[in-house]
Amino acid sequence: MAEPFEPFRKDLLAGKTTLITGGGSGLGRSMALRMAGLGARVAVVGRRQEPLVETVEAIRKAGGAAASATCDVRDPEAVAKALDTVEGELGPVNQLINNAAGNFLSASEDLSPNAFNSVVQIVLYGTFHATREVGRRLIERKQKGEILAIVTSYVYSGSAFVLPSAAVKAGVLAMMRSLATEWAVYGIRTNAIAPGPFPTEGAFSRLMPGSELEKQALRRVPGKRFGEHWELTNLVAYTMSDASPYQTGDLVTIDGGEALFSGQQFAGFAHLDRASAKEMMAALKPKK
Ligand code: COA
Repeated sequence: MAEPFEPFRKDLLAGKTTLITGGGSGLGRSMALRMAGLGARVAVVGRRQEPLVETVEAIRKAGGAAASATCDVRDPEAVAKALDTVEGELGPVNQLINNAAGNFLSASEDLSPNAFNSVVQIVLYGTFHATREVGRRLIERKQKGEILAIVTSYVYSGSAFVLPSAAVKAGVLAMMRSLATEWAVYGIRTNAIAPGPFPTEGAFSRLMPGSELEKQALRRVPGKRFGEHWELTNLVAYTMSDASPYQTGDLVTIDGGEALFSGQQFAGFAHLDRASAKEMMAALKPKK
């Protein structure tokens, strides 16, 4: 376990009003709390009211400003209405974190068209609806802003058994990168962060069925531990702050080296006791 580290001024995000989709639970909730703790006014939206209300209460209890509205990001009108509601409470939103996602394990040949469509609607369309709505408002108000998409460490490689997610996350990255050039003229930065394994109830209950799979997942991380939420939210806060004004169209991976480990043919040696690994390698060295 890594000890939380506080690198920021308390007012790092003062002046930011941030909409976080799927902000009532999991990583979205952690981002909401962290950003509010650094001075952002935070709006959380999602399908279920209860976790949204609980997150808003937690933020307010800690002295922050927050509001919530229920909406399904698949519905563009509902997204616009939710934005109207939270802007009514917090003032104009000038940042967006596209965090809401849908994912489940399935053999691809067993996927129904509707199953594929559900994930496409939530992740690809949902990101488009929220991004377009926030972007239009920023452009109209001549306000600069920051838009972030939470993607995944398999965004480049694709991944077996989560095909809809792999396909749409690549699309979301392309969306952020397209907008980085298109909307730079408006002062809008668009970036993506690709987290590796950060335990959350939602993702782990869907994607990590049982301790054996969890052990396997741990073995793919060179440091043999999952990420702590604060490690991710530090990166999110930096990316969304005025500390990074030249960063746009970027993808930052934060996975403890998991993706590299999986792609490196000899990475398995890192899991052996180093002395025995060296012994094995020395035994292969030609004798003089
Ligand atoms: N395996 C295969 N198909 C599945 C599935 C699974 N585990 N879960 C759902 N589906 C299929 C359903 O059978 C249905 O298809 P059908 O109509 O052909 O039978 C289709 O997906 C839609 O299911 P439904 O439950 O109606 O969708 P929903 O819109 O209510 O939920 C999901 C969307 C499926 C993505 C759901 O998992 C969800 O709401 N996830 C949100 C949170 C999340 O996934 N977080 C993790 C992020 S890493």
